[in-house]
Amino acid sequence: MKVRVIATFAASLAWLSSCSVSAAETDLVKQGEYLARAGDCVACHTAKGGKPFAGGLPMETPIGVIYSTNITPDKTGLGDYSFEDFDKAVRHGVAKSGSTLYPAMPYPSYARVSQSDMQALYAYFMKGVEPVAQENKDSDIPWPLSMRWPLAAWRWMFAPEVADYQAPANADPVISRGAYLVEGLGHCGACHTPRALTMQEKALSATDGNTFLSGSAPLEGWIAKSLRGDHKDGLGGWSEEQLVQFLKTGRSDRSAVFGGMSDVVVHSMQYLSENDLTAIARYLKSLPAVDPKDQPHQYDRQVADALWKGDDRQRGASVYIDNCAACHRTDGHGYTRVFPALAGNPVLQTAGATSLINIVLNGGTLPATHAAPSTFTMPAFAWRLSDQEVADVVSFIRGSWGNQGAPVTAGEVKDLRDNDMHTTSGDDLGQVTQKH
Ligand code: HEC
Ligand code: HEC
Ligand code: HEC
Repeated sequence: MKVRVIATFAASLAWLSSCSVSAAETDLVKQGEYLARAGDCVACHTAKGGKPFAGGLPMETPIGVIYSTNITPDKTGLGDYSFEDFDKAVRHGVAKSGSTLYPAMPYPSYARVSQSDMQALYAYFMKGVEPVAQENKDSDIPWPLSMRWPLAAWRWMFAPEVADYQAPANADPVISRGAYLVEGLGHCGACHTPRALTMQEKALSATDGNTFLSGSAPLEGWIAKSLRGDHKDGLGGWSEEQLVQFLKTGRSDRSAVFGGMSDVVVHSMQYLSENDLTAIARYLKSLPAVDPKDQPHQYDRQVADALWKGDDRQRGASVYIDNCAACHRTDGHGYTRVFPALAGNPVLQTAGATSLINIVLNGGTLPATHAAPSTFTMPAFAWRLSDQEVADVVSFIRGSWGNQGAPVTAGEVKDLRDNDMHTTSGDDLGQVTQKH
């Protein structure tokens, strides 16, 4: 009798402990799913119309096209990866085979992810992602550039040491959390930091000085502009709340997301918690301006007054009235949360005007997000306006209402038109489903 009671007791203990293990495991998988969102793994590891994380997305590099890989737990993907193999790829940029990965995989940023977050990510990719059988594609890079050993030299020179993120002493814990997310999983610098000729980001952290997040050269037809404290072309005029709104919904009371940033909002940022978005925003707002003479935007009424009186003699003004003013208004203020403001908008005052020419030629759709499901579309003007008219209207909006962007030439418009670019806006990557 006694024996039986003890046996039952032991069995229920065993059951209890197996339960708590699996609950902990589910939590780890859930945490990993959240972190995979923060790292936007799906954006690169999913082909257009393909299964989530099955790879095959073509990515342009200066030496040719490479394809992202299958990171589902199928044997054609990460099926036989140990935690160490996974960690080596994600934080160190070294594939299981021992060869170095192209830095199109943002491992220089992921190097700062903590060991415990790596374990959660691993749990998610092994247990939370649907396995998909799909062989990886070879790159289209011709020999001898396709040899991977020069990449190892690149990695030796430019990839940072892998080390858990260490906040500076006395740092505000919210700002430190923001730094961890932006400099690490968020890999914001992969687009927003300028690169050297040898393609490494010129800075990987706020502690490296003013270059970090100071804006990129055009990338796939868009400029990932400065996120530093400048009013003119950075985030100096944005409040913390506006930034949180923008990252969560793709819009704020003054701006609308477009280009390559749409995917970042749609696949990654909108899933982050209010606390994490606040941390990101507060951290970005802590980055000082690059230009020591930077001043807040001063609205100038002159253009609005002239247009109001029907005076459209200024170059580009008539193109603006006929094609743009219905939505963005003659005073450049747009309609709150529907059509973005052009007056005082830092997007209009970046050094290069690639993004602006691109959006005028190809139009754009403000993507739907969970918190803001309505979409608004700006039509494409490529067929309606000549190169000269596009140059005139872009120069007009860059120089009106107190904006201080430099004018652009018809030649710049022609170059972009000939490049046959496409706008990216929250496309149909499909929902990421979790396996139970
Ligand atoms: C900006 C694009 C991009 C993002 C974001 C990205 N990856 Fe990658 N990843 C790539 C590319 C491209 C490769 C293949 C590189 C190569 O073949 O040299 C790759 C390779 C890998 C590999 C190596 C696979 C192998 O064959 O050994 C793993 C593992 C991986 N990624 C995991 C992740 C995880 C996890 C995330 C999110 C935390 C992520 N990636 C986010 C582009 C990306
Ligand atoms: C794939 C490249 C890419 C990545 C990665 C990326 N961005 Fe962007 N981002 C862009 C582009 C292009 C723009 C310009 C379009 C726009 O303003 O909506 C932009 C614009 C922005 C803007 C709006 C600035 C303005 O003045 O209108 C903010 C804020 C921003 N990004 C924050 C971030 C943060 C935070 C991260 C990291 C979590 C990040 N971005 C990662 C490409 C990227
Ligand atoms: C039917 C309304 C409509 C018209 C007409 C229109 N736009 Fe837009 N515009 C929009 C919408 C909506 C967006 C946001 C697009 C997105 O998020 O991809 C936008 C975005 C922009 C932006 C990017 C600003 C930002 O921060 O998002 C610029 C610059 C711009 N428009 C300039 C113009 C110019 C110049 C014209 C005339 C040649 C024009 N627009 C005509 C609706 C319009």
